[in-house]
Amino acid sequence: MNGPVVVTTTLPDPVLDRLRTAGPVWTPPDPGPLDRGALLTSVPGAAAIVATLNDRIDAEVADAAGPGLRVVANVAVGFDNLDVPALRARGVEVTNTPGVLTDATADLTFGLLLAVTRRLGEGERLLRARTPWSFQLGFMLGSGLQGKTLGIVGLGQIGRAVARRALAFGMRVVYTGRNPAPAPVERELSATRLPLADLLATADVVSLHCPLTEGTRHLIDADALATMKPTAFLVNTTRGPVVDEAALATALADGVIAGAALDVFEHEPDVHPGLLERDNVALAPHLGSATTETRTAMAMRAAENVCAVLAGAAPLTPVPI
Ligand code: DGY
Repeated sequence: MNGPVVVTTTLPDPVLDRLRTAGPVWTPPDPGPLDRGALLTSVPGAAAIVATLNDRIDAEVADAAGPGLRVVANVAVGFDNLDVPALRARGVEVTNTPGVLTDATADLTFGLLLAVTRRLGEGERLLRARTPWSFQLGFMLGSGLQGKTLGIVGLGQIGRAVARRALAFGMRVVYTGRNPAPAPVERELSATRLPLADLLATADVVSLHCPLTEGTRHLIDADALATMKPTAFLVNTTRGPVVDEAALATALADGVIAGAALDVFEHEPDVHPGLLERDNVALAPHLGSATTETRTAMAMRAAENVCAVLAGAAPLTPVPI
């Protein structure tokens, strides 16, 4: 008999029903996030933990759960909130949810990209403030995308999906990554691989799709921003700490780049005040995968991973390290 499946947030009923086929399910009284103390007191005896990016699942949590813990299933493609080596050292399987959120996240990336380049938030704020306006040829001009260069940092599944959308908008794609993309992918996207410094110096829009690791923390810092064109935009829909937010706020205030579109923040849920006050910043509260269909698919994928492991089978989507 397995111990309980501890779920740290509210999940759709069909997902909870699926999890109940693997064992009893514990859910929190409200959607959370659980604070650290509540997380630690909820896990003892757990066979599985279904976590979100709010939950730091590390050796302390695994030890609080005890030796019956067999799987930690993250409801996210990113897994920087999990101490994978510590969990694996304790024989715990670790899973994430790649694939099912690719299109939703790429759509949101492009939505934010358009919001900042075409000044949509600024225009909406003007109207809601009842500011007098009239159609004029020079009124609230933005930047077009046709013929511009999109620089993708990290040409994984989401980066590729963003590149496909960029091609439909008439953009040219360059990318940077630890390894070259497979030749058929480069051909499909007509994408050229560049060193990061060259990509930053070339791109009209830089869009971040690399995972957060110690190697990518503050990848975009003051020096990187200074390499970008003053007319360029930065889009971040991966993880906040990939960008040095204070450096970005300074760069925007000083006109080092033209604008930024951000779905993720260095210290979520806080946003650097220097970003909040700028009109050339489009903001969203970590909505990349936030469609009903996608969030349900993510949660169901996590449940399938739990059910597989607790039934003695391999997980569908173990984290790729
Ligand atoms: C992820 O999956 O990593 C997103 O940030 C949340 O959907």
